[in-house]
Amino acid sequence: MSRLIVVSNRVNPPSAAGEESVGGLAMALAAALREYSGLWFGWSGRTTPEFTGQLSMQTVDGVTTALIDLEEADLDEYYNGYANRTLWPLFHYRTDLAAYDRAFGEGYSRVNRRFAETLRPLIAPDDLIWVHDYHLIPLARELRMLGVKNRIGFFLHVPWPAHQVFTTLPRHSQLAEAMFDYDVVGFQTEEYRQAFEEYVLFVAGGAQSGAERLQAFGRSLRTGAFPIGLDAAEFARMLKTARARRMRDLMTAATVFRHLVVGVDRLDYSKGLEERFLGFERFLADNPDLRREVLMLQIAPVSRESVGAYREIRARLDALSGRINGEFSDVDWAPFRYVNRNYRRDELAGIYGAARVGLVTPLRDGMNLVAKEFVAAQNPEDPGVLILSRFAGAARQLKDAILVNPNSPEEIAEAIKQALSMDKAERIRRWRASFDNVQREDVTAWRDAFVGALAGARERRPALAS
Ligand code: ADP
Ligand code: F6P
Repeated sequence: MSRLIVVSNRVNPPSAAGEESVGGLAMALAAALREYSGLWFGWSGRTTPEFTGQLSMQTVDGVTTALIDLEEADLDEYYNGYANRTLWPLFHYRTDLAAYDRAFGEGYSRVNRRFAETLRPLIAPDDLIWVHDYHLIPLARELRMLGVKNRIGFFLHVPWPAHQVFTTLPRHSQLAEAMFDYDVVGFQTEEYRQAFEEYVLFVAGGAQSGAERLQAFGRSLRTGAFPIGLDAAEFARMLKTARARRMRDLMTAATVFRHLVVGVDRLDYSKGLEERFLGFERFLADNPDLRREVLMLQIAPVSRESVGAYREIRARLDALSGRINGEFSDVDWAPFRYVNRNYRRDELAGIYGAARVGLVTPLRDGMNLVAKEFVAAQNPEDPGVLILSRFAGAARQLKDAILVNPNSPEEIAEAIKQALSMDKAERIRRWRASFDNVQREDVTAWRDAFVGALAGARERRPALAS
């Protein structure tokens, strides 16, 4: 079996204890690597006065990581700049927030080149290379320029936007062309795959060359939809731990005679938190008889705080949560709890398990693993109800959730009411369908489908005559 090299901007492997909080992408990649005794390459999260390309390597829990530090200017122009002020808002349809700055583009190219130059000596001829997410789209091009002929795949964790949106990016064609240095490019859903295909066909003047094969810019590649899933087996094991049970009991005790409505998200404007808070406020306003029967808990650890748009959304949410509690609290009771902390994964599992309603309402989201975690944590005999945004990739799989338009506080308010009054038989029926999907289309299925497609791709093919 070929060795697998995974490359992502953020590398956050689980420690030997395995229970601390790491994001969904990190858990998924760690699970993928264990079976391939692979290497995980990326940014250390640290900066250094001058880039050295020095690697810090360690093996934890069967996963070897190789990390590099970046310069302060890299952090500004590449991570906070092109990745999180240009591509992230654009790919989430927030063209109003997208900033275009020549220095960002230069920083993005520079860091991708630095990644390639540092990774190059670690690559053996048979290795499969799997690159992740929007931070690293040009990495294959940089590796090809250094003579790497290995099969290289790319998986995009976020949406690929409609071509009308993508074309608002200055030099969009350059970025799209860089995708054609991969052998396989994967998307979370068929909708995003099609959006990429439409760009290639209608804007780049490319053509289809077989099922899910595209050619353009003198090259060809395979595309596919590979929905990411949970490490369902590991999640089931974690649910049984003492910490998960204790947290579930704690939250159950904290909501005696009340139902817990829970949201868990990075504090990001794409997560629809403002509209969600307004939806809950409207629910309280419209349903005075139900007010004392609910507690909404929103967990939202701060994220990307060096970017202005993130500081602004945080300030708006602080104000809104204060307003809701100010308006509806009583001397012995408050309806809303808003916390900006990270929790361990096992503790989060316990919190989901105590909730009657999971509120997952991003305005746009590549997949959304929280929705799947909520489903996986429910008690089969008395499950809670998932309220899910139509615009999360997960809505393509979890079709039995209550699907809502996350832009509409009214719809969110009505969905909360519907979820709270849903009888047990219907809750079980809906949950069962979602749970089957979470079990079946898990992280192993995702990894095997993608790596299978990559392994099946041809060795580096010659450029097509254009
Ligand atoms: P994104 O990748 O955009 O943050 P996802 O929903 O796909 O969104 O993945 C988020 C991951 O981060 C999930 O695995 C979730 O459990 C984890 N997470 C989110 N909030 C917290 C928190 N407060 N503490 C610990 N983990 C969190
Ligand atoms: O899932 C999308 C994603 O951007 C990942 O690439 C990333 O690791 C995660 O969200 C968290 O964001 P960040 O790495 O910027 O903290």
